[in-house]
Amino acid sequence: MGGSPSIFLPKAYNSAMTCAVTESYPAFTNSAEFYDDIYLARGKDYQAEVEYLCRLIKARKPSLGDSLLDVACGTGEHLRHFLTQADITAFGIDHCAEMLAIAHRKLDGEPGVAVGTGGTGGSGRRGVILQQAGMTDFALGRTFDVITCLFASIAYLADVQTLRHAIRNMVRHLAPGGLLLLEPGLMPHQLKAPMRDQTICTIGDVEIRRTTTAQPRDNTLIIRFDFDIRTHQGIREFSEEHVIRLFTPENYEQSFIAANLTVEYDSEGPGGRGLFIGTPA
Ligand SMILES: C[S@@+](CC[C@H](N)C(=O)[O-])C[C@H]1O[C@@H](n2cnc3c(N)ncnc32)[C@H](O)[C@@H]1O
Repeated sequence: MGGSPSIFLPKAYNSAMTCAVTESYPAFTNSAEFYDDIYLARGKDYQAEVEYLCRLIKARKPSLGDSLLDVACGTGEHLRHFLTQADITAFGIDHCAEMLAIAHRKLDGEPGVAVGTGGTGGSGRRGVILQQAGMTDFALGRTFDVITCLFASIAYLADVQTLRHAIRNMVRHLAPGGLLLLEPGLMPHQLKAPMRDQTICTIGDVEIRRTTTAQPRDNTLIIRFDFDIRTHQGIREFSEEHVIRLFTPENYEQSFIAANLTVEYDSEGPGGRGLFIGTPA
């Protein structure tokens, strides 16, 4: 994103260029390098999403405040745009080292932005602090004016109890008068066909194909991503399985209320997938 191709190929790929191999990886471990390119090709507009969130925040607060935490920040695209919209110190946590490594590299390349992994992000520069941590038990020892958790990241949690733990933990990090903005995962009433699609994009001489199939099972959606990465040197194939919990609107609302938040639901939200808005009661 941001104009230049972000793709580079994992070392394992370089040594096995000439034959197709099929491998399985935990969610995002191996696809992280292709994440930004895939979602750019799918038309996900992080800048417009952040503009939407900033308008919403400003309508509820006199200012954005000076600190924002993005829980499950992934490759840092929302953080990157928040930093261009406002003079804030931004934090991001994610449990996936590969996603965070991309966020780190990307944000470090932003003019005037200093990236750290603790303490401050650097004096006289807008700071970003990135930490590898899980959303149920991160402990940053400070509070934030705004906490976001976006693009269905919350739906990777296994069950309602864990959802409640995660929301409670976010609220522990919320400053008085702060805002929690949570973009939910797919909810049961939103499930619809097609359950299979394909995204293809070309970056330089690399063609990335991702075929997605999704299968509802009990309270979850099992999403399988089959990647096919081609260069003039060869083909690499690998698959990932993502298990997404289909939390209901009530699951989200009750988790907010149990964490002492008042909750509103914006049915549009930054990405057309709705947004739960929490403020300390
Ligand atoms: C769909 S991606 C969204 C990333 C980013 N928020 C965005 O909008 O592009 C989901 C992210 O949630 C992270 N994630 C999933 N479960 C997590 C957990 N329990 N704690 C922290 N991060 C988690 C994944 O590593 C991944 O980066």
